[in-house]
Amino acid sequence: MRIVQISDLHIGGLFKQDIFDTLVDEINNDLQPDVIIVSGDLTDDGLVFQFEQARREIQKLKCSNLIVFPGNHDYRHTGYLLFEKYFPGSISSNQVHEFSGKNNSKEKIVLITVGTAVPDKDEGEVGYRQNLWLNDNLTRFNNRLSNGQRIIKIVAMHHHLISIPDTGYTSVVGISDAGDVLRTCLENEVDLVICGHKHRPWIWNLGNMRIAYAGTACSWRYRGIFKDTYNIINISDNNIVNIEMKVVGEKSIPLSEVVKRYEPEAKITNLSKIITPTR
Ligand SMILES: [Fe+2]
Ligand SMILES: [Fe+2]
Repeated sequence: MRIVQISDLHIGGLFKQDIFDTLVDEINNDLQPDVIIVSGDLTDDGLVFQFEQARREIQKLKCSNLIVFPGNHDYRHTGYLLFEKYFPGSISSNQVHEFSGKNNSKEKIVLITVGTAVPDKDEGEVGYRQNLWLNDNLTRFNNRLSNGQRIIKIVAMHHHLISIPDTGYTSVVGISDAGDVLRTCLENEVDLVICGHKHRPWIWNLGNMRIAYAGTACSWRYRGIFKDTYNIINISDNNIVNIEMKVVGEKSIPLSEVVKRYEPEAKITNLSKIITPTR
């Protein structure tokens, strides 16, 4: 089972068309994922012409499970009124998706998307009611499969659940009620939380739960790593979850290596130190 997460396209003045076209080619022809998640900030300003282009570009991705949800930039300029029009069924942002592996292989995965964008606000919020909804839905999948395996639980959101390096000092980094959401995820033994938002590929390990962050896939809005990147999540038959950061047009490396090789932004003069492929 393969999930590709692309994030923060920022269609507008800082969008890179050539990179997006390479990205589409990689995903459609090389990776052929079972699921594609586009985790918000599809547009730079939430404007009509940007949504029109975003829809055209996203339609180039060939995948039977294409999951799209908004980020804070999409909710600017009343973009929250447009998102549903251009991406029907996505505006509620809180959806439960269940997947089995290819050819009915054993692994079963539940992927729950949570809406964090707030109209005309950069800071994210899950909210009391949505957090209760998340808890109820995660609890439904606490039982084991008939073969004794756990169900893999993934929660996807735009904003950061926990802050990460190189993302500034303001409150707009994350989710205002992150503590409540974090507790919900940990209590329900979520395996993986995936986020976008601040364009900094990263991963935190919290016991058995990991929080993985995708960079910007195709815009000039780099942060810390000055490459166009996205994440690939591979889940094996025996429930091993591997997360890689892919540089568009280049190799991929385990996301954990990005953290291991971290140096403060000011010291990064040679990108090969971070982006050296391992295979
Ligand atoms: Fe963004
Ligand atoms: Fe964002």
